[in-house]
Amino acid sequence: MPEAILKMEHITKEFPGVKALADVTIEAYKGEILSIVGENGAGKSTLMKILSGSYPHDTYEGRILTGGKEVRFLSTGQSEEAGIAMIYQELNMHLDLNVAENLFLGRWKQFGKMIDWKQLYQKAEEYLKMVDLKVDPREILRNLNTSRQQLISIARALSHRPKILVLDEPTASLTLAESEKLFAIMHQLKEQGYTCILISHKLDEVFEYSDRIIVMRDGMVINSHEKAQFDQSVIIAEMVGRKMGNLYPKETVPIGETVLRVEGFSVPHPQNAKKRIVEDISFEVHQGEILGIGGLVGAGRSELVDAVFGKTAKQSGRLYMNNREIRINTPADAIANGIALVTEDRKADGFVGGMSIQNNITLASLKEIGRYGMINASLEEKAARKYFEELKVKANHLNVRVNTLSGGNQQKVVLSKWLMRHPKVLILDEPTRGIDVGTKYEIYKIMVGLAKQGIGIVMISSELPELISMSDRIIVLANGRLTGELNGRNATQEKIMELATVGTVI
Ligand SMILES: Nc1ncnc2c1ncn2[C@@H]1O[C@H](COP(=O)(O)OP(=O)(O)OP(=O)(O)O)[C@@H](O)[C@H]1O
Ligand SMILES: [Mg+2]
Repeated sequence: MPEAILKMEHITKEFPGVKALADVTIEAYKGEILSIVGENGAGKSTLMKILSGSYPHDTYEGRILTGGKEVRFLSTGQSEEAGIAMIYQELNMHLDLNVAENLFLGRWKQFGKMIDWKQLYQKAEEYLKMVDLKVDPREILRNLNTSRQQLISIARALSHRPKILVLDEPTASLTLAESEKLFAIMHQLKEQGYTCILISHKLDEVFEYSDRIIVMRDGMVINSHEKAQFDQSVIIAEMVGRKMGNLYPKETVPIGETVLRVEGFSVPHPQNAKKRIVEDISFEVHQGEILGIGGLVGAGRSELVDAVFGKTAKQSGRLYMNNREIRINTPADAIANGIALVTEDRKADGFVGGMSIQNNITLASLKEIGRYGMINASLEEKAARKYFEELKVKANHLNVRVNTLSGGNQQKVVLSKWLMRHPKVLILDEPTRGIDVGTKYEIYKIMVGLAKQGIGIVMISSELPELISMSDRIIVLANGRLTGELNGRNATQEKIMELATVGTVI
């Protein structure tokens, strides 16, 4: 056995009404890539926040040892000093600062009393090289896409020269090529004796790159598996607590009339008025159909659906609902015409975190639950409860605040909100990002149920197995253009990737 560089022993952590961790003991070894897998709410992030000092020493039970010695972190700074670096699930970057400022946030001192900017930018370049990212360190973060921001947060973590690097869902918003780059970096670090702890719902990458997998469920460690004995179905069964024969519950649903037709949509580029991020795209979705939209991150898929929904302005394009032209300039217009959009970033515009499940579900349907301009509390509860139960939101009651729910359950609340509006077309942008296998299955079930009711579903997905297994038809975008259409039945990962990379250099 190699030496344990880290031990977390008998860790128990409670939040009001929730035991997030119950007597968890884990070890990590020098030079390994250790993955921790488990359903949403299993306690993975909580365990890592204890390690990072986000939850200080006196807020949990149990102890942490690094290199055999007990450590008691009272702040994230202390954990960083001890050689532990975190890349968080939610990006915590300052969007209005530039790249270099983000990299060295809180560590200005090393550049002198009067900050030596030249040196700062030079150092920044050095760290950007470590993640193989070619951006100007003077660029404001907001102007970069999410995947670049993510790579910068990784560079920032590396700049602390950590012994242990913790990555909580680092690839959620990365393209395949970027993820591979990240894993190549992790592999190099491992060779140099660093330890990487990875948390990911993308089981493919977990199985491919880990040396060991720890499975957690309901705040407990269920098992630890060495690479030689990885068995996907055993590990999934341990995660969800039951055997899962099929991960994709797709059913054949009769496909009806065209419900929404999008014609000639073009969208201006947000940063460059001369360019277009979506170029003359047309497609249609039928009743009962699940239309998949494939493509690389940055291909213009979200920009297309955001413009259809009236969230952003289009340059040109027409929309037809049941063959009648409709005009959409704002999301309110889209909603009034029976279109719902579950965005990729549910935290930013899917729900109001500080509000209860009930208030969130009814947020877009206040008219239905009101009388004479006043909200009728019992009508509201009844309406919200219907979806809460149908979609099996995991929470003790309807008054739980949404920001304390796990990602999968937050997504169910967002879905409930839109279902309450009885949409004709439901657009889902990366609906299962960051969501565990068991809950993914439930979300797919919900999608199939809606298709059966005749709703037309449009699903953007970067997870190829999901796209292929759940779609009746797939259109693929590359560089803002439609590059092809595939029938769900004969689509393959290779065919989609081929269409997704038309005219791009990777
Ligand atoms: N700040 C908090 N207040 C109250 N409850 C919390 C808080 N943070 C987490 N929880 C609860 O603790 C449990 C563990 O959550 P945690 O975020 O650690 O899960 P996770 O395994 O990281 O899930 P995911 O895969 O969705 O990221 C969940 O039941 C969650 O609702
Ligand atoms: Mg988490």
